[in-house]
Amino acid sequence: MRNSNTLLIGKVLLDFSSLPSTNQYAQEWLAAERPDEGAVVSARAQTQGKGQGTTAWESEPGRNIALSVILYPYFLPAVSHFLLSQTIALGARDFVASYVPGQVTIKWPNDIYINNRKVAGILIQNTLNGSRFQTCIAGIGINVNQTEFPAHLPNPVSFAASTGSTFELAELRESLFLCLEEWYLKLKAGETEQIRQTYLNNLYRFRTDARFRRADGSIFEGRITGVTDQGRLLIRHSDGEEHFDLKEVSFI
Ligand code: BTN
Repeated sequence: MRNSNTLLIGKVLLDFSSLPSTNQYAQEWLAAERPDEGAVVSARAQTQGKGQGTTAWESEPGRNIALSVILYPYFLPAVSHFLLSQTIALGARDFVASYVPGQVTIKWPNDIYINNRKVAGILIQNTLNGSRFQTCIAGIGINVNQTEFPAHLPNPVSFAASTGSTFELAELRESLFLCLEEWYLKLKAGETEQIRQTYLNNLYRFRTDARFRRADGSIFEGRITGVTDQGRLLIRHSDGEEHFDLKEVSFI
């Protein structure tokens, strides 16, 4: 149940049948006025869904969740951007874990996996004011009722593919809002150690022998030992411990 210290993620909800991108709409909305904190832009279909970096987010119209949450984390120093990313990922992970069996983990930095397959992606776009946060758009795409995926996507999965059931999207969305709010309120309350520790406890391949590929193509075996406060991945291998930024390493 929501207590008085709530923000009511999703209380204001713009529900579109189609948009180019919910993150883009949220950006335009923020440029035009100041939506309530927790306001959500949701779309049944996106024609130009954005993924991490230069990638696109592809999602079959009407079958999945694609939404963006607007937050104002003024309380957070800009250097803590990874903590915010961890917080959103934990909310999304808990949400997925409450509906599907199997191991639900966060693949660094913030993909959500069911066993060895990606069920959800997160695209966070922040603006800063000096050394503090000003706005945050947390864009979340979750594969729900889609069961067939384009061949070029490496390892997709959905709720339906992993359970054999179909799901009511509006109901799921409400549950996602509660999970996100729970973790965001922890961040706001300063429960940062719990966030860092729970993130590691749910990190895909944490402390497990695995193979990785560097950006230069070299392959190595190692174990993820942690993430830095700046969000770099730490992997221990035969030559010691190495730090990686996004795009500097991939999982094999
Ligand atoms: C990724 O894994 O590459 C991130 C995917 C993020 C997709 C979501 S869907 C809702 C929101 N709007 C977008 O255009 N992208 C994010």
